[in-house]
Amino acid sequence: MRKFLIAGNWKMNTTAASGAELAGAVAAQAGELSAVDLLVCPPSVYLAGVKAAIGDANVALGAQNMYHEASGAFTGEVSADMLKDVGCTHVILGHSERRHILGETDEDINKKTKAALAAGLIPVVCVGELLEEREAGKTAEVIQTQFDGSLAGLTAEQVAGTVIAYEPVWAIGTGKVATPEQAEEVHADLRKLIAERYNAATAEAVRILYGGSVKPDNATELLGQDDVDGALIGGASLKAADFVAIAKAGVELSK
Ligand code: PGA
Repeated sequence: MRKFLIAGNWKMNTTAASGAELAGAVAAQAGELSAVDLLVCPPSVYLAGVKAAIGDANVALGAQNMYHEASGAFTGEVSADMLKDVGCTHVILGHSERRHILGETDEDINKKTKAALAAGLIPVVCVGELLEEREAGKTAEVIQTQFDGSLAGLTAEQVAGTVIAYEPVWAIGTGKVATPEQAEEVHADLRKLIAERYNAATAEAVRILYGGSVKPDNATELLGQDDVDGALIGGASLKAADFVAIAKAGVELSK
């Protein structure tokens, strides 16, 4: 059985002090939440401070982005090894805000995914359709194109060790959550696609998170779907109590 991964994407929020406080509050409750995996992804400038606040609690640290090159003249960028150096085990790649605001392509995300895996980081690769794509009946096609493009050239073993996050763009930060059935449909399609592209064992192993307005009051329903293996949480991850409440929903469902 796949263990739930409850991941907080803090986006461009918190200060050094409030981020450390938030991480510390999550870390303090991590002991009771060991039935699920916990991950926090603060802004890159706060990674080291958040790592210190987590201490040896069972909360993994992830970045929200990275560059695919190892080092050199890439002003403003951060490499996979640098993320590892400050204690990251995970990195979110291809978040819809990076795709749609910063202009990242599937090709960019593919290079980053390969570099993250080569460095030993677990990529959390995001896919998701726009509202107009859903309304035009193109959801499955968009997800397939993003999946194939972002994960091109990976071995089955690498895919098994990658986390996929399905985040319908229209549900991110809008309070409009996908229904559990809408989420499950895409998650099941993704797992079927992984089985087709790789094999059944790989499809069974991959964790597919849902993201988009996950809150304590909808977490149980969403996490209760067969192919939903966790959540990527934006807004609600900024409040320790909400993040922990979502993790607790995962703990209850794991019993
Ligand atoms: P949200 O963000 O929970 O605020 O909708 C989710 C995400 O973008 O990862």
